[in-house]
Amino acid sequence: MKFLIHTYGCQMNVRDSEAVGALLVAAGHERVEKEEDAELVVVNSCTVRDKAEQKAIGKSGNLIALKKYGKKKMVGLMGCAVKRMGADVFKALPDLDFAVGPRRFGMIPRLVERCLAGEKRILEIPDEDEVPEGLSAHSVSGFQAFVTILLGCDNRCSYCIVPDVRGHEYSRPAREVVAEVEVLAKHGVKEVCLLGQSVLRYGVRNPAWDENDPPSPGGYTEPFPRLLEALSKVEGLERIRFTSAHPKGCTDELVRAYAEFPKVCRHLHLPVQSGSDRLLKEMGRRYTREEYLTAVKRLRDFDPEFALTTDIIVGYPGETEEDFEATRSLMEEAGFDNSFIFKYSPRPGTRSAKLEDDVTKEEKERRDQVLLSDQEARGQARNNLLVGTVREILVEGPSLRNAQRWSGRDSGNRIVVFEPDGNPPEKGSFVKIEILEAHPQILLGRRV
Ligand code: 5AD
Ligand code: SF4
Repeated sequence: MKFLIHTYGCQMNVRDSEAVGALLVAAGHERVEKEEDAELVVVNSCTVRDKAEQKAIGKSGNLIALKKYGKKKMVGLMGCAVKRMGADVFKALPDLDFAVGPRRFGMIPRLVERCLAGEKRILEIPDEDEVPEGLSAHSVSGFQAFVTILLGCDNRCSYCIVPDVRGHEYSRPAREVVAEVEVLAKHGVKEVCLLGQSVLRYGVRNPAWDENDPPSPGGYTEPFPRLLEALSKVEGLERIRFTSAHPKGCTDELVRAYAEFPKVCRHLHLPVQSGSDRLLKEMGRRYTREEYLTAVKRLRDFDPEFALTTDIIVGYPGETEEDFEATRSLMEEAGFDNSFIFKYSPRPGTRSAKLEDDVTKEEKERRDQVLLSDQEARGQARNNLLVGTVREILVEGPSLRNAQRWSGRDSGNRIVVFEPDGNPPEKGSFVKIEILEAHPQILLGRRV
């Protein structure tokens, strides 16, 4: 069948969709670019906030409506919303062909066969500890790839539905990860991004290394830095990124790995959520404002240009003006290069859903806007410091906003735009750019 996958949500979903695409192609189906050409559409859903879930469900509903006119043959839903909704998904979408939760995406080619044979409304809900099939299926054509190293999450933050839908933590064996990255590098991948809800907890719940693995040449004892050490030896691979991280894992060994392995990129997405100790405690984040700022200092003492990004929730139940101001001041102290601000959305079954969602919509909106405009100024100030520096970037291709210009990213994941001057470099190559102009979200420069 001609198929297309629509993806909502985080990079983990992007990766799962990619694996599903590869598995469908391997099963003889054909990927198409345009939605109108697809007979089968799979929607990969997110449920981290209510709005995100609504989007995926709405999109699926629209696609299902097209089945009546013979414009679609099959519509499937995968991902986090399926696990949250369970059988209720068919109340919302009665003519959905199949629904499959996060750790069972590898079954999709078989579900498609079953639907073709006449089955309807198939529901596959994974267990908390299931190890998925198809984790190493890839269909990359470019020079960048995502690699899942850690599934699930055991952090249990009060507001977060992710542990309920993605299950318990499971660290893939290091050998399996290294083998996967070696294959990718042989196929021309230069940059990998290692994925997990909390990658720095790699190897904590279940050992990722076994006694037969050779010891770490650098004497690393923590499983994640040791994985970075192993991956930095992979030939052809030039850059290693990872996301997302919990501040607890920002250890001295991690900083040593940044220093010793030049392939490890100097950017960390380190969600802080709030700057108020009172709220951090309520959220169950297990660190204080000061501990967070100590982690930041460790990274910036090592490299002042180290890029730090974060996630913030505004309007958590009971968030006072004072709590909010504490978040503002923490953001300023940390000097984030970028931040993602989310308005609190109560999720069924989470601890905070029992609290009254008492910050009004208008107030959440106001706090969101304040933090966005703070970040705009801060992003500008951070980027101003880079004017005059020469940055090595991995070329991604013509810039999205202006195809006359090309863009790439530096080690800090900053977007760097330059004029190709009639002689564009190859996509996936490294070039050096002198920064001439700074904006809050991008840097402009010329080739040197
Ligand atoms: N409401 C608002 N934002 C949330 N996030 C997670 N759960 C919620 C929620 N219930 C945000 C956090 C997390 C990011 C992926 O989504 O900031 O880091
Ligand atoms: Fe949610 Fe916390 Fe896990 Fe992040 S670490 S996904 S915020 S429970």
